[in-house]
This record gives sequence, C-alpha cells and structure tokens, in this order.
Amino acid sequence: MWGGRFSGSTSDLFKKLNDSLPIDYQLVAQDIQGSIAWANALCDADVLTKEEAEKLTDALENTYRQVKDEPQKILSSNAEDIHSWVEQSLIEQVGDLGKKLHTGRSRNDQVLTDVKLWTRMSVKKIKRQLRETLLLLNEQSILHADAIMPSYTHLQRAQPITFGFWLNAAAQMFSRDIKRVELLNSLGDECPLGASAISGTAFQVDRDKLAIHLGFSKASDNALDSVSDRDFVLDLLYCSTTSLLHLSRLAEDLIFFNSQEAGFVELDDSVTSGSSLMPQKKNPDSLELIRGKSAEVYSYLTQMLMAIKSLPLGYNKDLQQDKHALFSSIGAWFDCLKMFNQVIATIKVNREKMFLAVENSFSNATELADYLVGLGVPFRDAHHQTGVLVKLAEQKDCYLKQLDLVDFQQVNSKITNDVYRWLNCEQAIERRQVRGGVGHHAFSAKNLLEYRMVEAD
Ligand code: ARG
Repeated sequence: MWGGRFSGSTSDLFKKLNDSLPIDYQLVAQDIQGSIAWANALCDADVLTKEEAEKLTDALENTYRQVKDEPQKILSSNAEDIHSWVEQSLIEQVGDLGKKLHTGRSRNDQVLTDVKLWTRMSVKKIKRQLRETLLLLNEQSILHADAIMPSYTHLQRAQPITFGFWLNAAAQMFSRDIKRVELLNSLGDECPLGASAISGTAFQVDRDKLAIHLGFSKASDNALDSVSDRDFVLDLLYCSTTSLLHLSRLAEDLIFFNSQEAGFVELDDSVTSGSSLMPQKKNPDSLELIRGKSAEVYSYLTQMLMAIKSLPLGYNKDLQQDKHALFSSIGAWFDCLKMFNQVIATIKVNREKMFLAVENSFSNATELADYLVGLGVPFRDAHHQTGVLVKLAEQKDCYLKQLDLVDFQQVNSKITNDVYRWLNCEQAIERRQVRGGVGHHAFSAKNLLEYRMVEAD
C-alpha cells in the first residue's frame, strides 16, 4: 500500500506493533459504508465514471456480504488494518479499478469517519440499554415504595427511607447518563471525510453532500483540526466513565445490603458464586465485577487523555490506540449495565430486616427535634434536647420510642404522649412530602401502583 518509497521490508516486531487489523476489523461495516460514499463523491467530482462507481459499490457490498456474519474471517489476512484489507478485497474483485478508490482520500480522514460512524451506532445501542435499565428501576421503585429501610451517611444509620426511594435514586443517575449520551451526536456532528491527509482533498468533492449522505449535518471546517480531533472519543469515554461510576457506587451499596450484617436483600443464585473451600458462601461476584470493571473503564479515558495531550496537530500513530480504548470501554459499559439489570430483576427484598434496622436505631432522632420545634423550641435547642434524650436512651440501653414519658418530660416538660406517634418511621416518611422527598416518592409511587392495577383490571 505504501511500499514504493521503501527498499527494505518492515521487521516482524514492527508489524506486530503497527498492525491494527486485530482490533479495527470491527470497523468493517463502517469502512465499507464510508468507501461507498466516497466512490459516489468521486463520481460527482468526475474522478470516476458512473459505471466505475457502480462497479466499486457492488464489489464493496459483496465484500460486506461475505464477512458481515463472521467478521473474524478477516483476521486470517496479513493486511495492516481494516482500510487496507477492504482495498485489497476490492482489487481482488475488480483489479486496477479498485486502486482508484483511494484518490484524494487518506487513511487519516477515513479512519476518523469509520470511528465516528461506529460511535454513533454504539451511542444508539447504549442509549437503548440505559433506557431499559431506567425502566426496570422505575418499575421496581414503585413495587418497593413502602419497603422502609435506613439511609446512611458516614455509613451510620441516618433517617428512614424506602428501598423504592433508593431505586429511584439509581434511576435518576441513569437518566443523567442518557442526557449526557444524547449530547454526543450534536457535539461530533461534523464529517471528517474529505479532510484527506491534513490539508483537505484536492478533488472537487462536495463535502457537505457527502457528510449529509453519511448522516452528519455538515462537513468539518478545518482539515488540520479534523484529522487531529479525537474529542468525540474522549466525550464518549467520559460518558462511559461516569455511568460506570454510578454502577460501581450502586454495586457497593447493594453488596452491603446483601451482606449478612445488613441482610436487606438477597441476590439470586444466577448472579452469585460459591467458594471453593467454604461451603456456606454465596458471594455477590456480579456486583464486585461491576465495581472492578469500572476501574478498567476509567483507565481508558486516562489512557486517551495521556496519549493525546502532547501530540502535535495532524495524524500521529499514537492515535491508533483509540480503537482499543473505545471498543473495550463501550463493551464493558454495555455488559455491566446488562449485569446490573439482571441483579435488580432477580433481587429478593427482606422487608422485615430493613424495617428492624430502622426500628433498632436512632434514625428517628430528627423527628423528635422537629416535634420539639412544633412545640415552639428553637431548632438549635431542640437539637440539643434531642441529643440529651439519645444519650439517656443509650444509658438505659434502649431506643427513643422505649423511653417513658417522664424521661422525655425531664428534658422538656411540654412533651406529651403525642411524641410516640412522631417517632414512628412511617410518620418520618410521610412528613417528607416536599418535591424530591421520600414521602413524595412513596406517595406518587403508591398512586402509580394503584393506577397500574386499575389499568391491569
Ligand atoms: N490504522 C490507522 C489507525 O487506526 C489508520 C490511519 C493510518 N494513517 C497513517 N497516516 N498511517 O489510526
């Protein structure tokens, strides 16, 4: 493909490092799509006749048919990369005509076009998966809207929430991921094809027409910037990093909820594994793997930032690394989302344990302070008086609800029997009707559930 200037051949080690076919064969569909578009653009520019463009298109389509179901077949070739492989296959079919296709094009704009097209396809696929996750979480959050459990700050029981509220929080995280992913197409909406090696093609190609034909809204405005640009790769890597960060934190919560110490949920056999030595073990490996994979995904973003940061403008071979980072990152993202879905869809919720964890705690202390505020006590004093009562309960080895009325009245004589109702965790939830509050969620989820039951009838 570029041998004319050389008298010696490349070393085996160089070939091993340089060849990208083992990775970029996955771009075969996009390379052929871009090549067909380029053949037509060359025809419009009178570089190729109509017959020649048609013959090239037929041959390219034929190549695609041969490998589309089994792209691994490509790997037996000695070609340097997918671009040279497609060109070789063209020449095998149509001889010298195949050698004309690369007129005015460079692998620099070609590879970018391929990767951008691949990115767009992947964004669609990921968005579908994110939506599926979101739907499942919404559904489950309605089902578990009345499963009362403790929330945690500093991993200390804080205030009562519901498992449905936790699931809804997870849904919020993924809905942000969807929004972030939706920005990607508009951010990378310029077609690089025709930028050629670095200064733009010298042939009269209508680049905007070509761009629109390939699904972009316009051609890129500066060929030098265009062949240097990998922002769209970084943007997608950042999206996957953030989403994996969400998955990893949720996995961490669930691992704790599933522990014998908490016992709030039980993971299904299908997403757990046993120990080779300890027969009693049922380990939450699926969630640990999600947490572990997230580290790998972050590394791809760092890797590409490092690879690009000191590159001079123009194409440099360092950029070849982008495919591995991109394919691996998106692959892991997709698998982890699917795994998370399986965990959630099969999870068993132990409401009683969740409820007991709230009952056997001081997570109703804020309610007591709020109750005192209702009696006209300034909040700072109410906070202090409640603290004194918590300490008293601790000394008596009980919780707030088990204190006698006289104990309460020792600290504030205005306290009446009403206090016990305030200390109920259901009350704590119901009182938080503010938008975003756990009571608001429980209330709207209950309505939704009733609505769905009527719908089902
Ligand atoms: N395989 C190369 C890549 O993935 C294609 C671009 C080659 N360009 C060049 N000037 N050598 O980046």
